[in-house]
Amino acid sequence: MRVLVTGAAGFIGSHVAEAMRAAGHEVRGFDSLDPAVHSGKPRYIPNDTDFTVGDVRDPAAVDRALDGADAVCHQAAMVGLGVDLSDLPAYTDVNVTGTAVLLAAMGRRGVRRLVLASSMVVYGEGAYDCAADGRVRPLPRAAADLEAGVFEPRCPECGDVLTTSTVTEDAPLDPRNAYATSKVAQEHLAANWARLTGGSAVALRYHNVYGPRMPRDTPYSGVAAIFRSCLENGMPPRVFEDGGQCRDFVHVRDVAACNLAALGAAARGGELCAYNVASGSPHTVGEMASALAAGFGGQIEPKVTGEYRLGDVRHIVASPEAASRDLGFAARVGFTEGMAEFARAQLRDPAGAAGA
Ligand code: UD1
Repeated sequence: MRVLVTGAAGFIGSHVAEAMRAAGHEVRGFDSLDPAVHSGKPRYIPNDTDFTVGDVRDPAAVDRALDGADAVCHQAAMVGLGVDLSDLPAYTDVNVTGTAVLLAAMGRRGVRRLVLASSMVVYGEGAYDCAADGRVRPLPRAAADLEAGVFEPRCPECGDVLTTSTVTEDAPLDPRNAYATSKVAQEHLAANWARLTGGSAVALRYHNVYGPRMPRDTPYSGVAAIFRSCLENGMPPRVFEDGGQCRDFVHVRDVAACNLAALGAAARGGELCAYNVASGSPHTVGEMASALAAGFGGQIEPKVTGEYRLGDVRHIVASPEAASRDLGFAARVGFTEGMAEFARAQLRDPAGAAGA
């Protein structure tokens, strides 16, 4: 297949492009090489790659890039979480308008397959059960509870602390920031496109992706990159709360393999299918800090600080069952092995530094 990979210079997009090429697909990379993110074309992109510099919001650039394509794997996005309302226009412009421009051009060009990078942030919260009330949506965690070291969320019915369970794709969507809202909008736009064109659209809801080429610590970094940067600077990773908060850390090569599986799957035309992309082996943030510190040489011990960030989700772990059933996807990189590699892997330098 001839596949256009948007965001092909980025952390996940570059691995996706590599996996597609290794599987024998003809890949065209497309990336804006935003100077806020990249200083030029990254060295990890092979010289013989068909690569177009362009912005997904530019209809003419997108139209040219789609020439001859059979499918699109849409990874280009403004990432991070967004801090406050002032972030809304930029996330909406890049992620929502950009996706709309891309889908309209795919419609004109008759491209009928789409794999869309989505995120677990569309759920807002993890899944929780109450001993008395069953499956419930938790109350936002109160500062007084967090201050007192009560980190588990409470039941909206009886106030008891809840236990966590796995999120499935039918969980309600509850985007809580500019980035999450833009990912939900992308999914809805892709569903519109599929209905109107009869095309097949697969949304992959990535959990906590980590691995080589992850950007170094920035204000928008996820916890794995932050801890890795602490270790490099000789500082202990600071583990917030009691370190018992759960996430599913999924390796970027597994995420790339899932994109490949989604591209090849016999997806139904006319609708969007969404899948969790997760390892299926959740770990606490404390365990992740320890595994990373051990992989880094074991001289620096993580520090559990009891700090908290209001609005942080306590646990979010996924069932990867649907992706396994429909796409034949199963993560292959184990947690210990993946973290040991990540502890020493090459990260992407911030823009301005060589090799970004
Ligand atoms: C992260 C991403 C989100 C992405 C999702 C899936 C960010 C900020 N968040 O959400 O965009 O869609 O993964 O890939 O990019 N923590 C510490 N110490 C620190 C920093 C954080 O203990 O120095 C803890 C936090 O309190 C939290 C957990 O680590 O409990 C995860 O934090 P983080 O990676 O920022 O956010 P996610 O909610 O997992």
